[in-house]
Amino acid sequence: MSDRLWWKHGVVYQIYPRSFMDSNGDGVGDLAGIRARLDYLEWLGIDAIWLSPIFPSPMRDFGYDVSDYCDVDPVFGDLAAFDALVAEAHARGIRMMLDWVPNHTSDLHPWFRESRASRASAKRDWYVWRDPAPNGGPPNNWAAMFGGPAWELDGATGQYYLRSFLKEQPDLNWRNPEVERAMHGVLRFWLDRGVDGFRIDVIHRIAKDPELRDNPPSERPGPGWGGQRHVNDENHPDIHGFLKRIRGVLDAYEERAAVGEVGLLPDQVATYYGTGDELHLAFNFALLLIGWDPRVFGRELAHFDRAVPPEGWPDLVLSNHDIPRHATRYDDPTLGEARARALALLMLTARGTPFLYYGEELGMRNGVIPLERRQDPLAWTLHEKASRDGERTPMQWSAQPGAGFSEKEPWLPLAAGWTTRNVAAQRTDRGSILWLYRDLLALRRRTPALERGAWHELPATDGVLAWERPFGSSRALVALNFAGMDRAPEFPSAVVRDGLRTRAGVELPENAAELVLGPCEAAVLVVDA
Ligand code: GLC
Repeated sequence: MSDRLWWKHGVVYQIYPRSFMDSNGDGVGDLAGIRARLDYLEWLGIDAIWLSPIFPSPMRDFGYDVSDYCDVDPVFGDLAAFDALVAEAHARGIRMMLDWVPNHTSDLHPWFRESRASRASAKRDWYVWRDPAPNGGPPNNWAAMFGGPAWELDGATGQYYLRSFLKEQPDLNWRNPEVERAMHGVLRFWLDRGVDGFRIDVIHRIAKDPELRDNPPSERPGPGWGGQRHVNDENHPDIHGFLKRIRGVLDAYEERAAVGEVGLLPDQVATYYGTGDELHLAFNFALLLIGWDPRVFGRELAHFDRAVPPEGWPDLVLSNHDIPRHATRYDDPTLGEARARALALLMLTARGTPFLYYGEELGMRNGVIPLERRQDPLAWTLHEKASRDGERTPMQWSAQPGAGFSEKEPWLPLAAGWTTRNVAAQRTDRGSILWLYRDLLALRRRTPALERGAWHELPATDGVLAWERPFGSSRALVALNFAGMDRAPEFPSAVVRDGLRTRAGVELPENAAELVLGPCEAAVLVVDA
């Protein structure tokens, strides 16, 4: 269809650049590596790539601490390598999204160095500086998400600066119009280079209470992040004005889009769409936090579907670089593979733009990282268990040393099972989860009901979640069996025209009413309306 919008009807694939493909043998992935693997992504059938940050960075938070928004970190390549990647992706019809981090910079960004230099600095007000409280402590009670107070004392100038994450990530002051102008300039810099859109980091935090009032205690009061209700340090109403102007920058270009990370409750997340004049998409993280229960999955899908305003469009996320992979979250000695396959079908047949996380198409599990190989600072600033390294291990390309990712020792160890769970092995196995993803992507693309249809939950047998996606003269019926035994979803009688099931080698029924799902199996059946 000619009105097919890549960010709405297509599928986005997230690449964590350090871990996708190392082309120069330093153990860290890079842009030339990604370019070398575009063949694979084209074969898979995705529409767009979102790259986690590639900008110059001291890598305290692996790129989410930016020291120059308008360049590429040497570990990933340079601007020429980036231009080459964009050109080649575009030639294959693949769009490119960058990760824009507007809430904070690195403490080594020249803006912050200048801001920190003296109280009289021209850039002092580009960040949030305050005098100590009368007792010499921080100006208010806000806690940093990554541990400790949200304020850091600068000994030389005697003031505190705000840092909502690490102390090396000072918060920008968006209330200063020069900051807003500079950050719009950053967007234009990349848009002019042909970038198709942005994933926006923690957009719900770019404005805080201007009076910096204390947060009240939560139901579980305590010194850390979880001990407070975040009514004054996030989700400030002024963010919507900033977002409308960000949208204005994007709308001056053709077919560009932004997806925002809004770490709030679904109803609050939905407000970040505005009336079609703020974010194109806001991540729905509800599926990241729930148990293996059909009623809860159904409830969360329905909730977000209803919450998103009519001008908006939902999206689907099961894994990303901040949370253990879903194949690990729902792993099980006997049903783990079946569950990962059923969730692949969920991702590609529910309503909204799917965001796949590199390696999920292989059913990749989290790696177990020995203490001495830990990289993520959260292991030290928060808790050993808070480390996000496990979901960031190298992509598993082949059974060769380094999994075909790198000729050298990779920056993080490979996850267990890579010698068999890899692209090369799965491409030769027609029944693999990789082929299932590819088949689902192809089915989605040829079935307007899956790309565009409404979403209605259907009544189903105990243990089964079912929905339909009507569109025009056809309709997709979807059922996921959460149970560990066979279940019949009891679909109405209808001739099956097309579809897929997640159990390899088992035929689709001729009539939808005859469908019987195996343990943790899922199916999508395309029938006439
Ligand atoms: C977002 C990113 C996360 C990062 C944090 C601070 O939550 O996804 O990786 O650490 O923002 O920038």
